[in-house]
Amino acid sequence: MQSLIAQPLKSLEEWDDFVGSRYEPGKSQEEFRNYAAAANTRVAEFYRLNHQYQTLDFVLQKKASFTTLNRREMSVWDAMDFLNTLVDDSDPDTDLSQIEHLMQTAEAARKDAQPRWFILTALIHDLGKILCLFGERQWAVVGDTFPVGCAWSDQIVYPEFFAANPDSGVPLYQTELGIYERHCGLRNVHLSWGHDEYLYHVVKDYLPEPALYMIRYHSFYSAHRHGAYTNLMTPRDREMFDWVRKFNPYDLYSKGSERPVVSALRPFYDELISEYFPARIHW
Ligand SMILES: [Fe+2]
Ligand SMILES: [Fe+2]
Repeated sequence: MQSLIAQPLKSLEEWDDFVGSRYEPGKSQEEFRNYAAAANTRVAEFYRLNHQYQTLDFVLQKKASFTTLNRREMSVWDAMDFLNTLVDDSDPDTDLSQIEHLMQTAEAARKDAQPRWFILTALIHDLGKILCLFGERQWAVVGDTFPVGCAWSDQIVYPEFFAANPDSGVPLYQTELGIYERHCGLRNVHLSWGHDEYLYHVVKDYLPEPALYMIRYHSFYSAHRHGAYTNLMTPRDREMFDWVRKFNPYDLYSKGSERPVVSALRPFYDELISEYFPARIHW
């Protein structure tokens, strides 16, 4: 029963699908505000836990534990296979494997003739979800990310759930800038812990700068969708966020397209991976 309470989502995709419906093209700002009422109780429970437990201390502790990258040594494709072992036996709507999801995102970018590094980034952007297979809770793997150690923006989904976060009782963390300096740059800001930040650390030596922004900030919706937290950004951050925004539709809306034939596409992606990554990397 305990794990049911801590793992409210039927699958990690349930969160991705929620975000996709929240930002459905053509939706007004007002409709966006109604997302909370429309979300199912599992999604709401998921956010309640996420907002309650993602404190600055929690983030620092997870960073210390996971950025050592001493858990596995494996290829990018091995990580895709590993993520594929995360199967949803309870979600009848999800019949695509994790690899198929990743390939759909990459294929959509490829059809639009995006640069090769962009296609590769689309392919791997969610590999950080293997955190789940290391025993991490759903609320510490997925969910909108947000800065910790300073005031929460009211542009973050379910802001009311932050009342239960112990950081709400730390006066410094509740000021506009908190522990940070104005325009200090996002690289100096701690975001809530999850698959984005983890994968950034895994791939940071191998991919170009825009790719690293796409990976590290793709769930930072309050910033890339709603313009929050410019007080912490440098001009470079703001420039690079154009790439984060360019990537977002591929992440959210490539699911409906046709089912990819993984074996047929594999040679193309093997070659693409080897252009940027050594045979094995540290996870
Ligand atoms: Fe993601
Ligand atoms: Fe994604």
